[in-house]
Amino acid sequence: MQIPVIDLAPYLEFSSNSSSAADLEANSNLKSLCSEVSRTLKETGALLVKDPRCSAEDNDRFLDMMENYFEMPDDFKRQQERPQLHYQVGVTPEGVEVPRSLVDKEMQEKLRSMPIESQPSRPAGPDPKWRYMWRVGLRPSSTRFKELNSEPVIPEGFPAWKDTMDSWGYKMVSAIEVVAEMAAVGFGLQKDAFTSLMNQGPHLLAPTGSNLKRHGQMGTVFAGYHYDLNFLTIHGRSRFPGLNIWLRNGQKMEVKVPVGCLLIQTGKQIEWLTAGACIAGMHEVAVTDRTIEAMKVASEKNRSLWRVSSTLFGHIASDAVLKPLGHFAESPIASKYPPMCAGEFVELELAIINLKGSKEEAS
Ligand SMILES: [Fe+2]
Repeated sequence: MQIPVIDLAPYLEFSSNSSSAADLEANSNLKSLCSEVSRTLKETGALLVKDPRCSAEDNDRFLDMMENYFEMPDDFKRQQERPQLHYQVGVTPEGVEVPRSLVDKEMQEKLRSMPIESQPSRPAGPDPKWRYMWRVGLRPSSTRFKELNSEPVIPEGFPAWKDTMDSWGYKMVSAIEVVAEMAAVGFGLQKDAFTSLMNQGPHLLAPTGSNLKRHGQMGTVFAGYHYDLNFLTIHGRSRFPGLNIWLRNGQKMEVKVPVGCLLIQTGKQIEWLTAGACIAGMHEVAVTDRTIEAMKVASEKNRSLWRVSSTLFGHIASDAVLKPLGHFAESPIASKYPPMCAGEFVELELAIINLKGSKEEAS
């Protein structure tokens, strides 16, 4: 099974001319494109999109800067570490983030029952990857969840940092918003059912850096089998492959992102809003044959051996309520998704994966 590539251009063009729900209803081509978006998210937990506003050059400018940053000595990078803010801004060093499969007993049992060929890699400990968190977009003027909405951290000696992060981050959020609108239409909801809840959400541009020089052995797990706790995640193309996803039918699949395309993945918040009609996509990042091939090419060309992912986590606003929307509230399993503030939900999830400091540390 292949993940289809959806070109967002026709929908963008339509939206720039009309915001009328009736016009969209009458456009059968766009309606079927929206259905393809929601169906693909349901079946695969992933989607490849082409957004004319996000060019391969933009992606490269971002990757170049992040490679330069991750190449800096550990002592330098640790100046941008903010454990007291739950690592939600600044850098998270390698060895901090714990894959859920390592701590979640229920998940471990599920993994043991999976057929051998689709079982995920078993990491022995925390993820050996660095990550940088950069908040994108407006913050709310008042919120009950201050710690998730803190000031950004800018490393010294990177004059283009703010511009590069903001412009790539803004473009990625814009692409998610279009997918969210199309998915809402495809699911039979109001087209702004998701985007109205994303407004002023704590969206995070969160590129990871994995040092393939140190950790480039076949099978090394950079991000153990897990789901994302946010609404939708978007990635630009990485220079080193290695992402595996699990389809809803349990099949494991290595993702190939074509040049100029972006990858979208479903997170736990869209599962909540759709009462499980769309579930959070499971995934892992590990060194594969294709990663090693790309490493050889990079070494020959004297390029960086840091694997940078240009990931952005699109969130529901912290003070907005997560609950099954529209007709999903009638689902027989809607009670599995009780109403809860998105900020409260995120705090609960972070506590499990070890990113949240103890109460003493936080105060
Ligand atoms: Fe993830």
